[in-house]
Parts: sequence; structure tokens; C-alpha cells
Amino acid sequence: MKPEKLKTRIFLDGGDANETRAILKLLGFLDGQTTNPTLVAKNPAVRKRLEQGELFSAAELLDFYREIVEEVASLIPRGSVSVEVYADSASQAETMYRQGKEMYSWIANAQIKFPTSREGVRAAAQAVRSGMRVNMTLCFSQEQAAAVHAATIGAGTGQVFVSPFVGRLDDRGERGMDLVANILKMYGNGDEHVDVLTASVRSLDHLMSALQLESDIITAPFDVLRAWGEQGMPVPDPDYVAPHSSLKPVPYRVIRLDRRWEDYDIRHDLTDAGMKQFSADWNALISAPRRKAYGSRG
Ligand code: E4P
Repeated sequence: MKPEKLKTRIFLDGGDANETRAILKLLGFLDGQTTNPTLVAKNPAVRKRLEQGELFSAAELLDFYREIVEEVASLIPRGSVSVEVYADSASQAETMYRQGKEMYSWIANAQIKFPTSREGVRAAAQAVRSGMRVNMTLCFSQEQAAAVHAATIGAGTGQVFVSPFVGRLDDRGERGMDLVANILKMYGNGDEHVDVLTASVRSLDHLMSALQLESDIITAPFDVLRAWGEQGMPVPDPDYVAPHSSLKPVPYRVIRLDRRWEDYDIRHDLTDAGMKQFSADWNALISAPRRKAYGSRG
């Protein structure tokens, strides 16, 4: 049963519908799920196939992703299911937009993930204009979140998510949860049409901190949600203090939200590194002679 005090929507971060089933059984609810190419690559059926020495064609892999997403969507029909487009450093907005449009047709509750790169934001702006729901992934700075806000002005409720990646900032010594707090504070000065989705969650402490900050959404991997469920789904009191960390604080910056999205400094090295990793994990599943981006069939 969902705790009454809970204001944050709870998503599972994963690429295996069996995990979705297990978490639904444990928690009794799930508000959504996020997927990405790395998570698809970890799906047990994919691992099994690789162990047998078999790779996928580009079309087979895309069909496989679709099957996972359809199964997950059928388990949480009223939830939101994020599906990520293929993006590498060369990906253009138009290509990503077309992939996103195709993926959006897979299920009724899709939220299309575009990277928070310049081309990704451009694709998202077009997607939102055409009525699609989007989730801006690989967000590492307040300025990127400001660009997402500006690029999607006019979007409806729940149409746009932005995903600050806390764990990957922690990994390099910066306190990722500060970015979530800073974006929430900055968005308080806007029209609040963008939901903040805390992503790249590694621990129960991350989850507790996100709940305390009242992040609109959090996506957490199976082990973290299982630990939370097994502890009775605790919701922190307003005076909850996260355990001391030696990570470097990320200071709040005063950033206006009323500029053109193109005028913000969107580039971030971790966004570039993230796209590189996601595309490499995807391409590693595809047999070399036929290796192509999503959307290319055959
Ligand atoms: C979810 O949308 C993200 O893709 C995911 O949380 C990334 O997590 P990671 O940084 O642990 O790969």
C-alpha cells in the first residue's frame, strides 16, 4: 500500500519485466518505469543470447526493446514508461525525433528519453510541440535544466520530465542530490511544467533524500526499491538529515528561466560520456556488418 505521506512518484529503473513484477508484488504499486540501452543490455534474455555467442541484428534488437517495453507497460498501464532513443555524438535532432516518434507508438504510456544535449533538446522541443511526452536524460547541470524548461514552455502537465543523474555526479566527488535540490528551487520561479525525476540512484540514502526534497519522481534500481520495501517504505520526516558525506557541495546558481533555450550553456562532459556509454552498450549487442542506429531496419 502506497504510504500516505509520499508525495514523490516511484519508478523502477530497469530493463527486465520480471523485476517490475517483483517490485509490484512487494510495494503493491509502481508509478512508472525508466529504461535505457545499458539496462536493456543487462536483460537476462539478452545475456543468455550473448552467452550462446549470438548477437542481434539492429532490427531484432529494436524489436526486443519493444517487447520489453510492451510487457512493462502492460504491468503498469496507468504508469509512465520511459523509452530511450539511440544517441551518440553525431546524432542529429531530426533523426532522434523520428526514432522517438516511432517508439512513442509502441505503447500508450510512453515517455521518450532524449539526451540533454543541444540536439537532444532540439528534438524534445519538436516532440513536445507534436504532443509527445518526453524525459530529458543525462542532465548534470542547473543550466541544462533551465534549457529544458525554456524549450518546452507550453507543455501540458506530466508531459516533460528532466532527469538529474545523482550517482554519476557522486562518482566524481560532487554531491548529486544538490543538483536535484537546485533544480527544484530554480523551477519554483517558473511555471512548474517540468517534473524533476531523480535518476542514477545508487542507495537508499539517495531515495530518502529525494523523498525529503519532494522530487516529483524518483527512479531507483531493483535493489534499492527492494530494500525500501523490505523496510516498510519509510518516508522521511521534514527534519530528516541525510548521512554526512564528504562529497563537494554543488552551489545553487541564480538562473533566469525566460531566455531562449538556445542561449543556455547546455554542454556537459558527463552528458557526452553518457551518450558514448549508452551507444557503445547498444552497439555491442549488434552483429558488426549490420550495425546501425535504432530505427534502421535490416
Ligand atoms: C534512468 O532514467 C537513468 O538512465 C538511470 O537512472 C541511469 O543510472 P546509472 O547512472 O546508474 O547508469
